[in-house]
Amino acid sequence: MTQVLVTGGAGFIGSNFVRWALNARPDWHITTLDKLTYAGRLENLAAVMDSPRHRFVHGDIADAAVATPLVCESNLVVHFAAETHVDRSIQSAADFITTDVIGTFVLLEAARQAPRLRRFVQISTDEVYGSVPEGASRETDELRPRNPYSASKAGADRLAYSYWATYDVPVIITRASNNYGPNQFPEKVIPLFVTNAIDGVPLPLYGDGLNVRDWLHVEDHCRAIDLVIEEGTNGEVYNIGGGNEIANVDLTHRILELAGRPLSLIRPVADRPGHDRRYALDTTKLRQLGWAPEVPFEDGLAATVDWYRQNESWWRPIKEQDQAYRAYHQAQYGNRPGT
Ligand code: NAD
Ligand code: DAU
Repeated sequence: MTQVLVTGGAGFIGSNFVRWALNARPDWHITTLDKLTYAGRLENLAAVMDSPRHRFVHGDIADAAVATPLVCESNLVVHFAAETHVDRSIQSAADFITTDVIGTFVLLEAARQAPRLRRFVQISTDEVYGSVPEGASRETDELRPRNPYSASKAGADRLAYSYWATYDVPVIITRASNNYGPNQFPEKVIPLFVTNAIDGVPLPLYGDGLNVRDWLHVEDHCRAIDLVIEEGTNGEVYNIGGGNEIANVDLTHRILELAGRPLSLIRPVADRPGHDRRYALDTTKLRQLGWAPEVPFEDGLAATVDWYRQNESWWRPIKEQDQAYRAYHQAQYGNRPGT
């Protein structure tokens, strides 16, 4: 039996990972530790709540009294928990420092004492490299984060590395590109635009729409994490990129096409401050371990649009009834000038 602690397992990628891993790894017993912030939703784990191999703990990774015993009983820690939305970090960075930096520090301190720990996977992000005008980031490239979210993640990324170099904590760091798929909170561009398109309301496209992201299906991400747990080397960083670079305006066109809505729904709005122009990852190192993305972007995007169509009961209450979401949305888009 392998005892696994998944932090942030009620969020988008974490819940996909918990579901995927309970299915793919019959010897894993998973504890999910999640604070259930606005982004953490127990319904994301509904399918596994009754599993005898899954336990949910409601708590904060920055609370050592809760986190330390859970880390100390584990063979694997997969650390997803974070504040994750760039626009929210621009509105206010405080929670990003508390959770992404201090929360990670608390888990790493616990990991120093964990007697059976085999891996501590620090889920980092391609945003730590900063904007990449050309070429593709390699794991050895300098980190140049440019917004409060990516700076908090870069801090956690290097803190985790330092605990390997200094204390021999079995840390592996992954840096993934933009994920998409089911259960993504409707603040990130794909779920926001898909649900807006379903409702026939405007899609607020930042700036000139030519910023480029590289899209990775969340299941391809889960398989990559599993592979680095099995085959990776402690102290190493692994890029995980989908190889699907697309400008935001082209992505928006595809979403509208899949939703059967007109391009006139696109509403160009003022740009995100410090908006990184492009991210791109060199994934040679991970591919040498035997990984390649399996979900073609066209299929994954169509399936994602279908998921939001078929799961209105998941996102409509958030968008229509959740006062905190509506306040965030108003602050972000309410008075945003057009371009
Ligand atoms: P998410 O915002 O959907 O979920 C985050 C989860 O963490 C939520 O369940 C939330 O309740 C939980 N959480 C937040 N603060 C916590 C705390 N203090 N203690 C315990 N739980 C807490 O995020 P996501 O998009 O699934 O991202 C997961 C991880 O992957 C993050 O570390 C993120 O930086 C990284 N990442 C995300 C992407 C992406 O495209 N979404 C890409 C690369 C890396
Ligand atoms: O690259 C990995 C990162 O991807 C993760 O580390 C982050 O957690 C995740 O949030 C994501 O960050 P981005 O800022 O790239 O994702 P977001 O979905 O917010 O934006 C994607 C692009 O779409 C970006 O260029 C900004 C643009 N955008 C976004 C929103 C929300 C718009 O044009 N309009 C919008 O309303």
